[in-house]
Amino acid sequence: MGDKLEKVPFSRKRRTTISGGSSLKTNSKKSGCVENNDDNNTTTHTIINKTHVEKTAQQPVTGKPAKEKGRHETLYDKLRCHRLQESLLSSASGYSNYRGILNWCVVMLVLSNARLFLENLIKYGILVDPIQVVSLFLKDPYSWPALCLILVSNVFILVALYIEKRLSVGFVSERVGFLLHFFNLSMILCFPVAVVLLVSSMTPAGGVFALAVYTILFLKLYSYKDVNKWCREIRQAKARTLARSQSFPMSHKANGDAVQAHVTYPGNLKHRDLYYFIFAPTLCYELNFPRSLKHTGRFLLRRLFEMLFFIQLLVGLIQQWMVPTIQNSMKPFQDMDYSRIIERLLKLAVPNHLIWLIFFYWFFHSSMNFVAELMQFGDREFYRDWWNSETVTYFWQNWNIPVHKWCIRHFYKPILKRGTSKWAAQTAVFLASAFFHEYLVSVPLKMFRPWAFMGMMSQIPLAWFVGRFLRGNYGNAAVWISLIIGQPIAVLMYVHDYYIMNYEETPAAGMA
Ligand SMILES: CC(C)(COP(=O)(O)OP(=O)(O)OC[C@H]1O[C@@H](n2cnc3c(N)ncnc32)[C@H](O)[C@@H]1OP(=O)(O)O)[C@@H](O)C(=O)NCCC(=O)NCCS
Repeated sequence: MGDKLEKVPFSRKRRTTISGGSSLKTNSKKSGCVENNDDNNTTTHTIINKTHVEKTAQQPVTGKPAKEKGRHETLYDKLRCHRLQESLLSSASGYSNYRGILNWCVVMLVLSNARLFLENLIKYGILVDPIQVVSLFLKDPYSWPALCLILVSNVFILVALYIEKRLSVGFVSERVGFLLHFFNLSMILCFPVAVVLLVSSMTPAGGVFALAVYTILFLKLYSYKDVNKWCREIRQAKARTLARSQSFPMSHKANGDAVQAHVTYPGNLKHRDLYYFIFAPTLCYELNFPRSLKHTGRFLLRRLFEMLFFIQLLVGLIQQWMVPTIQNSMKPFQDMDYSRIIERLLKLAVPNHLIWLIFFYWFFHSSMNFVAELMQFGDREFYRDWWNSETVTYFWQNWNIPVHKWCIRHFYKPILKRGTSKWAAQTAVFLASAFFHEYLVSVPLKMFRPWAFMGMMSQIPLAWFVGRFLRGNYGNAAVWISLIIGQPIAVLMYVHDYYIMNYEETPAAGMA
């Protein structure tokens, strides 16, 4: 009888050892990995073992005392060096810490680019020349057409304010107001075009800068017109409480040290209010913008330093890396040597993409935060996590928030409200965006080619394709590829055409 009783715990222990159940429990305390498997039920082995251990544990202990059994189990555990587990790179392992691999990517990127950098220096010497940047904006030191054009834009701002003041007191009807605004906004788009095309001392870089300022002004004044109209509609709806909607500053003490004025329509129709909006880093007008409380000197200095540093870096990279690569691409284009064209395109893709990324940080983070901090503008959401985009749609919703917000508020939703389908409304937004992209490139280059327009419009079929056929990381890779490859195609097209138009001798000229 005693023998029988002694055998039972032995066989029980053996079974436990084979299944590895007790070691699983012990090890799960030691390392998080097995515990993780248990939690997630990632492996069938683990589940089977767990069940087995549980079954074994339910059997009545009829042999040696529990103390002695525990001692035996510990001894077996000490002999054991294997346990059920997956390889780290198997998806079943649940492992996700690839920080080291990411660092490796960065190291490889730096090393390979350092080689490229050295090769570039050996081949071309130092091409960076800050004086040349000035000549990009100024042909004649006594003629500053781009700056003059920007100063003239104040006229359109004042006209918009004047029209709104007249509308607010009912001096002009809504219809007349609409026509006046329409004329003013049309002039904002047409006047700089005429100046850029007719003034010979206007350089392409100066033209891009002036037109960008005018485009921003157009979007801002459009928003200003819309919001004031909405305010009038609300005022009419609350006609009986008209007196309460007159301007009166209401002071609120925030945290004891900042005073904010609450403005109501038509109290907002003042030079100070409009110019605050013109300089604020947003395209959407509001009567009461969220304001941050006070300047933080360190934050301002850091952003200023970044702005100065990254603009130098951008200029340096363009002069040293982009320009020679573009110049070397002209011959394959002339010979229509397709394999060399693709090679040049891929070569250009690297500096172009790097410059674009630096531009993104310089503009959307450093510069916009700097201006926002200076103006105590509280809404700092200038971009969202577009780099995680798994669809093209997500990218356009998140990369340029000021433009996206404007599109939604002043174009997309008003079109949808008229009963237009979503697809048609989205196409209309992309059409408008394509127009402005083309406007900013073709006019300053004085060369009308549809590459930027087509690039923007191609986003619609691309968005459909990526959304329909690609998911997760594949979708994200597709978005990155479209950004990395798409832009240099457009850049090469424009540069090639510009080169042909301006620098290449015509056959007749050559013969002469
Ligand atoms: C076209 C575009 C505006 C579509 O934006 P989207 O976010 O995909 O559009 P959605 O259909 O998801 O809806 C957006 C908004 O409209 C609202 N909406 C959708 N259908 C609506 C309807 N029938 N009626 C009223 N509102 C509607 C949604 O509720 C949403 O509102 P919310 O922003 O308050 O949440 C966007 O892709 C875009 O901005 N494209 C151009 C970007 C661009 O050119 N940028 C230039 C950068 S250089």
